Amino acid sequence: MAREAGDIAWALGLQPIYVARDEAELQAWCFSAKVILERDVDQCAGMPFVIGIGENNIRRAVAERFKDSLSFTNLIHPSATFGCGQRGKLEHCKGTIVAAGARFTNGIAIGDFCIFNQNTTVAHDCLVDSYVHVAPGANLSGNVHLKQGAWIGAGAVVNQGSNAEKRVIGENTMVGSGTVVINDCEANAVYAGVPAKRIK
Ligand SMILES: CC(C)(COP(=O)(O)OP(=O)(O)OC[C@H]1O[C@@H](n2cnc3c(N)ncnc32)[C@H](O)[C@@H]1OP(=O)(O)O)[C@@H](O)C(=O)NCCC(=O)NCCS
Repeated sequence: MAREAGDIAWALGLQPIYVARDEAELQAWCFSAKVILERDVDQCAGMPFVIGIGENNIRRAVAERFKDSLSFTNLIHPSATFGCGQRGKLEHCKGTIVAAGARFTNGIAIGDFCIFNQNTTVAHDCLVDSYVHVAPGANLSGNVHLKQGAWIGAGAVVNQGSNAEKRVIGENTMVGSGTVVINDCEANAVYAGVPAKRIK
């Protein structure tokens, strides 16, 4: 995910600096770009950061660890599209990553440190809490509420809720790839299949 986040920066004409956790991770890095060690990250304080970590709980832990020392920005691929007023709303978030081809219509509220991966679609009046990951090609219909830490797998579809009652995916719940969600999903669970059933 770090390299993919970096790709968005490159597409914006920026030159990302990547952060390796330790020497071993630095040695394993097989990609031509500037990489620094996490212990030296303070030298870059003042530069805009994102956290290119796909796993929601780890991204959250890193965000909390560096919340006072680093300034976080959003990273939005130039090919992403936004409905009326939506781009401005997204710019009030911090640490949110929007990859190539993601599409947002309007009336959508988004928290911090979310990831909208390639070709995701987010329709009207969705509410996306912080630390959510929407994997490539997943589709959120209108009036869906993704609670904090939810993960929507690649190519999954979440059917719409209503103005009065959003379709809810509970906190930290994982929706498997290709799943079609037609009812609310409980918190801290795993759902898969068509239609979605709780498997864990
Ligand atoms: C749903 C998911 C989280 C479950 O992973 P897991 O907890 O390791 O579950 P298992 O592989 O043990 O599978 C448990 C059961 O669910 C089924 N299952 C797993 N994933 C499924 C899916 N996406 N759709 C339908 N059934 C699925 C398995 O066949 C298995 O069924 P069985 O008990 O009858 O044999 C995972 O399979 C998944 O889809 N992850 C998302 C992948 C993704 O989108 N990646 C994008 C990266 S950016």
